Amino acid sequence: MREDAAPPGSAPRAPGHLPLLGHLLPLLTRPVPFLQSLADHGPVVRIHLWRRPVHVLTDPGLVHRLLVQDAARTEKGFVFDQARGLLGNGLFISEGAFHLRQRRLVQPAFHRDGIRRYAALAARLAAAAVSRWETGRPAPIEPRMHGLARDIVVEALFATRLSAAQKARIDRAVPVVLTGFVQRALYPSPLLEKLPVPANRRFDAAVRDLRTVVDEIVDQAAAPQQGPDGTLLSLLLTTRDEETGLAMPPAQVRDEAVSLLLAGTETTATTLAWLFHELARHQDLQDELSEEVRAVAPDGAVSPDDLPLLERTGHAISETLRLHTPNWILMRRAVEPLRYGGVVLPPGAEILFSPTALHRSPRLHPDPSRFDPDRWRRPEGHAPPRLFIPFGAGRHKCVGESFAWTEMLVVTAAVLARLRLSPATATPLRESATAATVRPRGPLLVAEPR
Ligand code: HEM
Repeated sequence: MREDAAPPGSAPRAPGHLPLLGHLLPLLTRPVPFLQSLADHGPVVRIHLWRRPVHVLTDPGLVHRLLVQDAARTEKGFVFDQARGLLGNGLFISEGAFHLRQRRLVQPAFHRDGIRRYAALAARLAAAAVSRWETGRPAPIEPRMHGLARDIVVEALFATRLSAAQKARIDRAVPVVLTGFVQRALYPSPLLEKLPVPANRRFDAAVRDLRTVVDEIVDQAAAPQQGPDGTLLSLLLTTRDEETGLAMPPAQVRDEAVSLLLAGTETTATTLAWLFHELARHQDLQDELSEEVRAVAPDGAVSPDDLPLLERTGHAISETLRLHTPNWILMRRAVEPLRYGGVVLPPGAEILFSPTALHRSPRLHPDPSRFDPDRWRRPEGHAPPRLFIPFGAGRHKCVGESFAWTEMLVVTAAVLARLRLSPATATPLRESATAATVRPRGPLLVAEPR
């Protein structure tokens, strides 16, 4: 059979298939370009991970249908089946009626008043972090952003009741869990997870550690009169379901805390790291944003009311979320037959799409590989809002979207008001997609006082 030949009603197989491995090689060696290239072979393309067939949707309209109209006909898919037993059934992992109920309970923690409180907290932590940065010396931006994003989410979730040792344990565990989570999905059999090899041992230890720290913190906070006021955790512990009037059981609060920690640190940190790499390469734009920030807050400590005034900074963040969309693969599984572009996907079919690849389509974004925040000034410069999905869409759309936007604006303002960033070397900006997000691999950056 020719590479791309397929029976009527089924999806063509992508080129590059190898016996036994399927499409693992291109997916591991050049993940995002490989996923981008699939659009040339049709709106629905079949790839194989070992022998497991997975259907890739390459058409943004079909992805929107999958996430929104067909949400009730899908579940989250095989990556999450494996994760559930280890990481618990928090929002990021749960599905169906249970997910909808949990979502109703968690959502109030992200309403306006909460976000205003988290904005003040992010501004305080960002100012303290920036004042500690050594200037005039090349340094990597990624660990700075990871440390700051971790501190902001941890403090918003748990307040300062976390000891330095607990913070360090979270810090060590989160990257291992997020990388292992993706790598394990590519194992040919779940039996391999049981092998006592170093990668499995590291992953199991990181999961155990993360869960233990979160358990300790929830137990402290759940004790009478111990709950830190105004944290996400206290809201989760005290919130009542509007329909049933019931509180969330503590075991579920733990699962939600793990979910929020995992979903809320790496994504924001990676986006901010990409933004600062791009701004270091585009000095004029960096100056423009710095002026915008200083016009509303000379010391960079922006208040929640200032955020709508940071229009150009917002454009630069949107453009970063477009060109460097953190979540490079997302998944679903059909629970009822689905028909996309003449292809019928039976119940049980695994479905994958890449927000990063979709956002680089020239059909949606003219000159897609250019970092061009100006495109967000013109409707024709970018995709219509429903096809721009850095935070997903439908019932699983990111619950932390406003939190993330607030955090990214506040941190960007804190940095640009005080510092000028430049690349230390001419090292090109590259990407690496070995974990749950596409991370930058670029030059060290030098920060100088403005
Ligand atoms: C730039 C930052 C962020 C990006 C790009 C992002 C992206 C996403 C995406 C694409 C999804 C949907 C996943 C799917 O459909 O399978 C999602 C879900 C989620 N995100 Fe975010 N996220 C960000 C920040 C955050 C933050 C700061 C938090 C929490 C503090 C958070 C918590 C969650 C949770 C709990 C879910 C699961 C929602 C559900 O299924 O109901 N995210 N995120």
